[in-house]
Amino acid sequence: MKDTILKLKKEKNAVILTHYYAPAEAQEVADYVGDSFYLAKIAKSSTADIIVFCGVSFMGQSAKLLNPDKKVLMPDLTADCPMAHMVAPGLIREMRQKYEDLAVVCYVNSTADLKAESDVCVTSSNAIKIVRALPNKNIFFIPDRNLGRYVASQIPEKNFIINDGYCPIHASITKEQLLLQKQLHPNAPILTHPECEPELLAVSDFIGSTSEIISYATSSPLNEFIICTEEGVDHRLIADNPTKRFYYPVPHPCCMDMKLNTLSNILSVLEKEDKEVLIDDAVSVNAGRPLNTMLELGR
Ligand code: 13P
Ligand code: SF4
Repeated sequence: MKDTILKLKKEKNAVILTHYYAPAEAQEVADYVGDSFYLAKIAKSSTADIIVFCGVSFMGQSAKLLNPDKKVLMPDLTADCPMAHMVAPGLIREMRQKYEDLAVVCYVNSTADLKAESDVCVTSSNAIKIVRALPNKNIFFIPDRNLGRYVASQIPEKNFIINDGYCPIHASITKEQLLLQKQLHPNAPILTHPECEPELLAVSDFIGSTSEIISYATSSPLNEFIICTEEGVDHRLIADNPTKRFYYPVPHPCCMDMKLNTLSNILSVLEKEDKEVLIDDAVSVNAGRPLNTMLELGR
């Protein structure tokens, strides 16, 4: 299957973009593997005719919004992020009426409809930089309460209103599960994704996006790490650091939507070109704007 995928990719001038949480097999056939910000930048600059996005729907949609004229395919169109939908309808408009000088800051883990009502998008690797650069004092952060609270803690001079959404995978990791790993591996620093609950961030040594966690562990002189995010990052961590040890909370955090990006689904979509990401024209114009603003401010 791998050989056929590589052959089809060449023939069709297609590029495969894969998130670190996708299965190892999807990372191995990818042209680019990365966190959401990196993949959005790659999608924007791609010269391929077809983008195959191995991630969840908001990632495929972002690639399409940044490249409205390109064909963006996903190995499984049902791969979705529950958090992307966690903003009550009408809430953004309500907040805009309530607060003058409001900036609606939308984590990329969100639907195109939510992006269309927002001022700027952020990812976990650029949120602090981008929010700090905004002239607005009042920030409505959607949909993730945990990334929102973390960003707010780093920018005390602004007033944050934080929506109550969350990632079911990261939010279900408990402090006890994390501290058990610390007890077993006392010399290993804890590296945590900001989608985790604040009490986990409070006991962590480093907080960052998937790629920031991987860079931290790779450049560190230490030999063992407790990794507090989805287990898919293990593939790159081990590939880049074969002599280092990585421990995860038990049960291992696992995003089943990301795991739908199997080799057979990738092959099938490349052959048939049938699972195309399509976004309503009216939504597309407005939802692309905050993503492009993110790329400008995050440069
Ligand atoms: P990153 O931007 O760190 O890759 O995170 C994406 C994500 O979905 C985390 O759950
Ligand atoms: Fe969404 Fe969480 Fe899966 Fe990331 S890990 S895609 S935030 S459900």
